[in-house]
Amino acid sequence: MPDLPALRASIEAHRSKLADECAAVRTPSDLEELRNRYLGRKRGFVMLLFEEMKTLDPAEKPAAGQLLNEWKRDVQENLAAVEAGLLTPVQAGPREDPTLPGERRPFGAAHPLRIFQREIESIFMEMGFGIEDGPEIETDYYNFEALNFPPNHPARDDWDTLYINDNLLLRTHTSPVQIRVMEKRKPPIRIIIPGKVYRRETPDPTHAAMFFQVEGLVVDRNVTFAHLKGTLEHFLRRLFGDKLKVRFRPSFFPFTEPSAEVDIECLACGQKDPACRVCGGTGWKEILGSGMVDPQVFKNVNIDPEQYSGWAFGLGIDRVAMFAYGIPDIRYFYDNDLRFNRQFHLK
Ligand code: DAH
Repeated sequence: MPDLPALRASIEAHRSKLADECAAVRTPSDLEELRNRYLGRKRGFVMLLFEEMKTLDPAEKPAAGQLLNEWKRDVQENLAAVEAGLLTPVQAGPREDPTLPGERRPFGAAHPLRIFQREIESIFMEMGFGIEDGPEIETDYYNFEALNFPPNHPARDDWDTLYINDNLLLRTHTSPVQIRVMEKRKPPIRIIIPGKVYRRETPDPTHAAMFFQVEGLVVDRNVTFAHLKGTLEHFLRRLFGDKLKVRFRPSFFPFTEPSAEVDIECLACGQKDPACRVCGGTGWKEILGSGMVDPQVFKNVNIDPEQYSGWAFGLGIDRVAMFAYGIPDIRYFYDNDLRFNRQFHLK
């Protein structure tokens, strides 16, 4: 026959178990199961102890009754706390003080290269150009061959190419997208292609192994060099100012004939400083390459060069942005120093 100390020991043993069991409850049905185990009318542990109490010595009954009632209340309170926890799973921490000032979120600013890319895009969009893109991992065919670079042609040396294997490489310019677009679409074509390009360069103030270009391509009937000149002059004056001096210099690219490089007046010295560090005292700054699409390039994409003509250009966004903002080192663009990036804002 149990006695009071045995009853007390039994309760104590269950008290520590109850704490663990309460902590393990995850769902309402866990809770229900626990409630039944302790408080179930027939076989609940607390109820069984009340049954046992009936067999105690009558002298011990009042104390035992008090003990059991306290234990039962204890169990009920524990289960109620678990239930409340299930209803509000997030522990209520200290209340927030709504009178404290808010935290200021830092405003982002567009990256200077992105600002220029958008500016260039919007000027060409005004003129009815569309925007295209293409893969940064290219084949030898698109990056060179279709652009009229024969295998082993020395012109390939102008581009220090990063090869992935014999056939795949990181594109060295955005020009391969010209080919991809002309393969898919027939003229009239009027597009620009902004994107990243890669070259095997040792980084220095004017060279990076990754940088940005914008390619342009116009193909239609009766397109002439006058269109090339007029469009590029308009573009550069929209970008740098109405009065900007622009000059075209004969040049060579395998995929254009004739080819021209385009210079703009040095905005740093106004063509006045023979010791200018930006233009080297020449008064001019080379800004892009361009030319009339070579007939061989048209043949490579099955466009008839007797019926169609076109012009193209390629411009380095980094170089233009450096020039426009007076940024002395191309690597600043890629250092991700927010103090640098935050200086530039979209107009
Ligand atoms: N792809 C040339 C480069 O990376 C730039 C270029 C020159 C692109 C003449 C053209 C072009 O489309 O017609 O240096």
